[in-house]
Amino acid sequence: MASHSFSHVFYDFAFMLLCYSVLIQSLYVTGDITGSQRNIINISSLLPQTECSSPKAINGSGARLKLIHQHGPCSPFNHSNKLTNNQILTHDQSRVNFINQHRRRSTITTSTPKATTLPSSPIAASKIPAHTGNSFSTGNYIITISFGTPEQELTVIFDTGSDVTWIQCQPCSTSCYSQQEPLFDPSQSTTFSSVSCSDPACSQLYSPDCSNNTCVYTVKYGDKSHTSGLYSKDTLTLSPSDTLTGFFFGCGENNSDGFGKVAGLLGLGRGLMSLISQSNTKYNGVFSYCLPSTSSSTGYLTFGGGGAPANLKNTKMLTDSSMATFYFLGLQSISVDGTQLSISPTVFSNVGTIIDSGTVISRLPQEAYSSLRDAFRQKMSNYPEAQGDNLLDTCYDLSSYETVEIPTVSLEFADGLVLDLDASEILFFLNGRSQACLGFAGNEDASDVGIIGNTQQRKFSVVYDVPNQVIGFGQGGCD
Ligand SMILES: *[C@@H]1O[C@H](CO)[C@@H](O)[C@H](O)[C@H]1NC(C)=O
Ligand SMILES: *[C@@H]1O[C@H](CO)[C@@H](O)[C@H](O)[C@H]1NC(C)=O
Ligand SMILES: *[C@@H]1O[C@H](CO)[C@@H](O)[C@H](O)[C@H]1NC(C)=O
Ligand SMILES: *[C@@H]1O[C@H](CO)[C@@H](O)[C@H](O)[C@H]1NC(C)=O
Ligand SMILES: *[C@@H]1O[C@H](CO)[C@@H](O)[C@H](O)[C@H]1NC(C)=O
Repeated sequence: MASHSFSHVFYDFAFMLLCYSVLIQSLYVTGDITGSQRNIINISSLLPQTECSSPKAINGSGARLKLIHQHGPCSPFNHSNKLTNNQILTHDQSRVNFINQHRRRSTITTSTPKATTLPSSPIAASKIPAHTGNSFSTGNYIITISFGTPEQELTVIFDTGSDVTWIQCQPCSTSCYSQQEPLFDPSQSTTFSSVSCSDPACSQLYSPDCSNNTCVYTVKYGDKSHTSGLYSKDTLTLSPSDTLTGFFFGCGENNSDGFGKVAGLLGLGRGLMSLISQSNTKYNGVFSYCLPSTSSSTGYLTFGGGGAPANLKNTKMLTDSSMATFYFLGLQSISVDGTQLSISPTVFSNVGTIIDSGTVISRLPQEAYSSLRDAFRQKMSNYPEAQGDNLLDTCYDLSSYETVEIPTVSLEFADGLVLDLDASEILFFLNGRSQACLGFAGNEDASDVGIIGNTQQRKFSVVYDVPNQVIGFGQGGCD
């Protein structure tokens, strides 16, 4: 309250001086008492264009792949199948429920000290709305890679929250959803082989099965979406100069709906069967990406070191054995326009925070979210409010504005890493200018993990370095 009225006094004072001094005018526009930047943004620059703007070529060592939003104008998929933003958020909650359900299960079935310190809640199946139960990752980013010899090009979800890579395969003995590209045909690849049950790779799977001495994989995402089939091995081509021979992946012949039009999924998690682990000798456990600022531009995914921006800042990569697939980092505090919110650091550390490429909206412990929301609303009080939806409760109608002044939200991590989020990383446009929402949400359950979602990662170059246990962020990553 005190700082609020003080800043009022300051603005009145600055306004008086405005008449006399150009210097004071620039101070008024670019700084407040704490000296943090104000974000005055042309709203047009935050909204996707109807056409895909073609990306500049980016150089770097290692494989560099173009990364595309599945539902934007750069997507190779049939645009009549695009999801609305409301549908994307419904799917997003389904993914978050799955992530947390996974943890609750682990919490119950393990007896590690970590697990017993977490609030023990039963698997909250009743809390998971039925209509969100059968989808996974459909709000995600996609890349195009090739399997087999000769190469069969396939567009897949890229996912830091899963380990097993899989694609739908012919003859598709049980069930395949309709994908846009032709199904992978193992019989057309001279380098394909299935994996025997005695192969050590088979025992790396979480729940391998054996059929006719062939290893069978199954991955279940949430309660309804799943894939299973023969665990297989073939050449994976990431880019013309980057080939991995003998790459293990699932050849899915029993796949549910819920994956959109993609051919499958590329797993970049921390498990032994993820691409990162399998390519460890080639890429040293390092990969990075930049998610584009809007769905009408493209980003990149790259493997191996090199090409990291000079301004990269690191924070510790943390591990939670109850969620071994995920990359954790140490979120410690949040500031709005340079003023730190009064949230006890234990609010974050009690549940931990993951960074996930596939969750759209960041999730915070309820107490932290409420504090952020209140500070944000106070700064945005000049703008007319708009209705939210089930997930996003702080929205504004910006249709009569050309520019908007958005407070900076800063996420502060261990080792002094501070991510200053700008408007494109804070706002989620539910319905164009008329529903511009704070792109964060509070967790329903006190034991739910915090998640840094992909809206908040846009435009940063995010570098994962597994052997050195750090995650780095650089500015201007997609340029
Ligand atoms: C905002 O951007 C749009 C599109 O680039 C442009 O037409 C408009 O003049 C800009 N408005 C302001 C106030 O800069
Ligand atoms: C980027 O790659 C292109 C084509 O391979 C090459 O001509 C160019 O010199 C490279 N640029 C830099 C800055 O390395
Ligand atoms: C796109 O999907 C619509 C509806 O599912 C279908 O009618 C149309 O033929 C498809 N177009 C292409 C190019 O596949
Ligand atoms: C297992 O092998 C037998 C004999 O070759 C064959 O008839 C059967 O279809 C195979 N089963 C599966 C699930 O592939
Ligand atoms: C396909 O997978 C589902 C889910 O794992 C399973 O219930 C079903 O029995 C499978 N179908 C066949 C024919 O194996």
